[in-house]
Amino acid sequence: MNAQHLKNTFKKLFNAEPILVRSPGRINIIGEHTDYNGGFVMPAAIDKAIYVAISKREDDDIHLFSESYQQFDISSVKDLKKSENSWANYILGVADQLKERGYKLGGFNFYIDGDVPLGAGLSSSAAVECATGFALDQLFSLSVPKMDIALIAQKAEQTFAGVNCGIMDQFASVFGKKDHAIMLDCRSMEYSYIPLKLDGYKLLLLNTNVKHALADSAYNKRRAQCEQGVAWVKEHYANVNTLRDVDLNMLEAYVKPMDIDVYNKCRFVVEEIARLLSAAEQLENGNLQGLGKLMIETHEGLSKEYEVSCKELDFLVDAVKPLDEVLGARMMGGGFGGCTINIVKEEKIADLIEELASKYLLEFGLKLDAYTVQTDNGTSLYN
Ligand code: GLA
Repeated sequence: MNAQHLKNTFKKLFNAEPILVRSPGRINIIGEHTDYNGGFVMPAAIDKAIYVAISKREDDDIHLFSESYQQFDISSVKDLKKSENSWANYILGVADQLKERGYKLGGFNFYIDGDVPLGAGLSSSAAVECATGFALDQLFSLSVPKMDIALIAQKAEQTFAGVNCGIMDQFASVFGKKDHAIMLDCRSMEYSYIPLKLDGYKLLLLNTNVKHALADSAYNKRRAQCEQGVAWVKEHYANVNTLRDVDLNMLEAYVKPMDIDVYNKCRFVVEEIARLLSAAEQLENGNLQGLGKLMIETHEGLSKEYEVSCKELDFLVDAVKPLDEVLGARMMGGGFGGCTINIVKEEKIADLIEELASKYLLEFGLKLDAYTVQTDNGTSLYN
């Protein structure tokens, strides 16, 4: 995205000089649906991002313009509430959360553009929220700590978008580091960076171009099922607060007899937390083959036990599983559409995309989009 172009567009719209902010989308190597269960995740920020241009206004108005939707959304900082324009809610929700925490905001002009594909499971919404938090922080000199920007962004998603999400996406957007994955412990919020050395291989995302309508409500339901499982175990072990504190024996004894579906969901999460720990070891030892096998296991679990996959995602994973040039493949993110993440031998990527795209079109009548992604740095000013 060209900074001068962003500035010129902003000047035409608002006749003012903006501050520019960039906040990236994210991938997740492994560790799915573990964040809201106090487990670990292994995301990375990517080289696709949301860009925001922002300036102060003399009045208390909020004037937003979205490049993707070619639409204005006008409201007041004195009376923040949900908009009919769903894209605006990710921005207004963050302003609302900042105010909730006592930060003083004035009116502002705001322009948003980006190249994170929407609805593809690359967390364009988290990128918008984090870009907004950081842009308002800079514009009004609020000195919001980085961690709070991520937490405020997460809370905005919960309150203004209605998804009871974990912290992974917003954390990755803010704290991403080029050439690294982040290993985040969502219980303690401690994190470290793992170098992502893929020698000869690349991360390839295959976008199903579907987002099934039930995605948000199913996500909230899974989270509630995990909490139910924890509550049953807690009746016997007072120290247990999340599935991170639970083992398979506890599930077998106290959850399985109560509800087999809740049991299956909880078992997936407990296994996935353990799987991530082995995956981190494999990555640190440069064993991409080992990492890839674990990714396939994660997909199996997400599809059969946690039941957040869909036929399009399963098709794409099944199609690459037998191939020597693909070390690992799985659905990524919340589920019910979006992308698969694949570790693929570099020189085979072009042929693979061509072959899969025609198979996918034949099977579903849908276009397959493919992106090779690089990891990148987190939210920052953009010049
Ligand atoms: C979505 C949520 C995250 C996380 C993933 C699943 O991306 O926003 O918090 O729960 O799904 O791992």
